[in-house]
Amino acid sequence: MQIAEVLERQRHVEGMLMEVSAAVWCILLEAQHASWQWSGDHARDYLEIGTFKGKAASILASFTAEYGNRLAIVDPEVRPETRSLLDSITSTVSYMEMRSEFLAQGDFLRANLRNLAWAHIDGMHSFAAVVSDVSLCEQMLGDYGIICIDDFHTDLYPQIPAAVYKYLYTTPTDLCVFLVGFNKAYLCRNVAFRYFSEFVGKNIHWSLKELGHLVSLVKTGRHSQFDAHAIAPFQGEHTFGAYVGQ
Ligand SMILES: C[S@@+](CC[C@H](N)C(=O)[O-])C[C@H]1O[C@@H](n2cnc3c(N)ncnc32)[C@H](O)[C@@H]1O
Repeated sequence: MQIAEVLERQRHVEGMLMEVSAAVWCILLEAQHASWQWSGDHARDYLEIGTFKGKAASILASFTAEYGNRLAIVDPEVRPETRSLLDSITSTVSYMEMRSEFLAQGDFLRANLRNLAWAHIDGMHSFAAVVSDVSLCEQMLGDYGIICIDDFHTDLYPQIPAAVYKYLYTTPTDLCVFLVGFNKAYLCRNVAFRYFSEFVGKNIHWSLKELGHLVSLVKTGRHSQFDAHAIAPFQGEHTFGAYVGQ
């Protein structure tokens, strides 16, 4: 994968995705691709809820062009420039001009049960909509799939972590958080936690450094209910906390 090209392409699209998060996506998408090979799985598909001008979706589109999987977009308003950008990258994008809450009633959910490799939740930021989006995406998530939730820790949207934690701790979910950082949370199924957690613990800060981002990988506590790493702006050491890599 030509990551420099993918990152350069998204740089020219208006949107809020942080440059360091774009790099994290590329690193995790490549790690996930490796899992399809050793786990005997096949190429699974990507979904974005809330696309605006396609900054984050351009990354997913670039990976589908390389891996031969598909990208679905859900947004009540798909802008013509978004469509032409994504279609210029790959021919495998489908568009659903609707609110994500209505996915539960359509064919897309049934056709994609346990099929998705990546779901980016960046649509309606209300508490109820986030709970609904996480629930829908969990149903569609494949074994080594990743759900990325945007605006997870910002002063503007405290309802987003509230909604995610409510979902995680009050439903019989199979999801857990393996990474938090730069406004985003990354969740996977329990079966995939060890793989992604070990990958992050060993690699992510070095891979980010190679891409020009000096960060600290953080883990200051462990618990069976919450065992995620964090990445943060550089704290003077490449790792911070006694539990990094565990
Ligand atoms: C913050 S922007 C998304 C930014 C985008 N992911 C990017 O990379 O730049 C939020 C988007 O969510 C869409 N949206 C709002 N309500 C939605 C809903 N109920 N379901 C899906 N998308 C929604 C908006 O139309 C808007 O395009």
